[in-house]
Amino acid sequence: MSEPPASLDRAALQGARVLLGVSGGVAAYKAALLARGLVTHGAHVQAVLTEAATRFIAPAQLAALTGRPVPTDVFDDAHRIVHVDLARQADVAVVAPATANALGKLAGGLGDDLLSSTLLCLTAPLVLAPAMHTEMWEHPAVVANVATLRERGVVLVGPEHGPLAGGDEGPGRLAEEGAILDAVAAALAPAGRGSGELAGVRAVVTAGATREHLDPVRYLTNRSSGRMGYAVAGALARRGAHVDLVAGPGELPDPPGVTVHRVETAREMHAAVVERAQDAAIVVGAAAVADFRPAQAADRKRKKGATDEPEQVTLVRNPDILADVGARKRPGQVLVGFAAETHDEEAHGADKLGRKGLDLIVVNRVDAHDAGFAVETNRGVLLTADGQRIALPLASKEALAETLVDHIVARRTGADLPERTPPR
Ligand code: C5P
Repeated sequence: MSEPPASLDRAALQGARVLLGVSGGVAAYKAALLARGLVTHGAHVQAVLTEAATRFIAPAQLAALTGRPVPTDVFDDAHRIVHVDLARQADVAVVAPATANALGKLAGGLGDDLLSSTLLCLTAPLVLAPAMHTEMWEHPAVVANVATLRERGVVLVGPEHGPLAGGDEGPGRLAEEGAILDAVAAALAPAGRGSGELAGVRAVVTAGATREHLDPVRYLTNRSSGRMGYAVAGALARRGAHVDLVAGPGELPDPPGVTVHRVETAREMHAAVVERAQDAAIVVGAAAVADFRPAQAADRKRKKGATDEPEQVTLVRNPDILADVGARKRPGQVLVGFAAETHDEEAHGADKLGRKGLDLIVVNRVDAHDAGFAVETNRGVLLTADGQRIALPLASKEALAETLVDHIVARRTGADLPERTPPR
């Protein structure tokens, strides 16, 4: 994924007081790069290391990079009540890497060292960048802790899928420095530091494919990666919107500042969206929702049977999520769809725009090598309910998402579109 330009999205870091917590995982060495990145963007960084982190990275290195002493113990400078002091002086805190132990202590409210005690005193926004082996990340206790923390409004960035220590590979790798910087900047933005045309506005975005089960091991799905929807969710959050992203299965990292709800089937996506759409001013349907599902999802694996006669699978219609949201549309709500087509795309797009009660629809071909499913770029045409046709030239999905959000913002305010630098 290409990085957004620093000047646009990371301005909130300038002058911000960032508490950088480092817990004891192999990825702790990357905290040095993050500290340097934060300082480069103008942040005042106060690093705090756990005892175990000091085995992986020297406090002196972070002290040199941040220009401040790095405490590791509650009893360093005990007369100052260091943990309370550190928490009060932070505009935002980020823990990178956050180990399973750090997540567990925070979820459970434990404060048995300087970092955990400081985080218990924190009232500023908190960003966690977990890093651990896949087995740990997928352990039910860690999954439950992550859900608890998310519910409390903690922002999680990553982990990403990739090579791990010891030659393993899977989800668990610390998010890239750029993604963590963006998450910290986005966490600061609602406090009024960033630009926020959509501050206080709720948005719901769908992304990715759905899975329609035939039996416990087989399902029907499609090639959508979810990238376009993730990019739209990230772009809305950068403008200050409170974004719920309802996403099908996939391995994309959570966009910074976005609350992600994972679903599998179209019916689960429908329930998650309809519930949240009532309070949302913006709903964007970028998911490739399966139109049909097997009438029966067998609870045991379907067997071949005695003959070679193929089994007939009966399909039934799935709910149309956007059409249902469109049918209950509130005044002032902006509804946006995507139409992925292989032919006559504009005619089909215009038809869907009217039928589903949408304000905007992005029409694109999915049979091109540089647009549509599972590629980094996209291009197409934006059709509006009042009959405008706006070309969307080839751009990264992130850049196209920014352009789309410009149109959403303009639709809400009725303002002329702002001049924007051409897509990267
Ligand atoms: O009808 P079609 O699937 O081509 O329409 C595409 C648009 O409708 C997309 O925005 C997609 O997310 C949305 N959609 C939906 N629920 C469905 C099917 C499509 O929300 N069951």
